[in-house]
Amino acid sequence: MPNITIAIDGYSSTGKSTVAKQLADWLNYLYIDTGAMYRAITLYAMEQEFIDEENFDREALIVSLPKISLAFKKNEAHGTHEIYLNGRNVSSEIRTLQVSEFVSPIATVSEVRRKLVEQQQQMARGGRVVMDGRDIGTVVLPQAELKIFMTASAKERAKRRYKELRERGDDVTFEEVLENVNERDRIDTTRKDSPLKKASDAIAIDNSEMNLEDQFHTILQLAQDRIAGRV
Ligand code: DC
Repeated sequence: MPNITIAIDGYSSTGKSTVAKQLADWLNYLYIDTGAMYRAITLYAMEQEFIDEENFDREALIVSLPKISLAFKKNEAHGTHEIYLNGRNVSSEIRTLQVSEFVSPIATVSEVRRKLVEQQQQMARGGRVVMDGRDIGTVVLPQAELKIFMTASAKERAKRRYKELRERGDDVTFEEVLENVNERDRIDTTRKDSPLKKASDAIAIDNSEMNLEDQFHTILQLAQDRIAGRV
């Protein structure tokens, strides 16, 4: 079977990672969640007190970048993909609303992006990869054989994220989550370096009205067509 790379980009909480994981499992490909990498750097910046509600010391973060090491490991027992920040499993800590609030400003820093893009390109070198994020089809893997761009209404996305956060016991209101979704859209689409945008050869999928199964089968079919096209 030929090896292809699959890039899944889109707005926050469109379910990119869910479908990317399903696809990688089905095809026996490597799954790489690039949002988790930006989140782990954000957690580091919060812990070092480089960022809080009032201040963001970009220079201090940039100087510390060589001290940050990120790695993914698959937890075979749970079938989950875990991210390690300097050897510590931070998979759960990076999903709080507080990290979500700070991650977009962190992701505007070009030095951060350069470091992560390089690592992402290295991980994708052999093909057989499904990678999700904001700039995968445009910057990280412009040669990807299949590019998907996922969208859904902000309200629908906030509903999904709210449910997820409440289920894990986080004390948040729907309005806070909606505000975070809108604010992240604004920063992600307007930043100077690698803004979120659809690659010209990406296929757009609006999943506001789609269930997970339909979405998976639609994208799997596209992937199988691309793989067959390369035989
Ligand atoms: O996919 P996510 O919501 O976990 O991503 C968190 C943030 O990271 C998102 O708001 C923007 C940033 N990000 C990015 O700039 N580039 C990527 N490839 C992935 C995420």
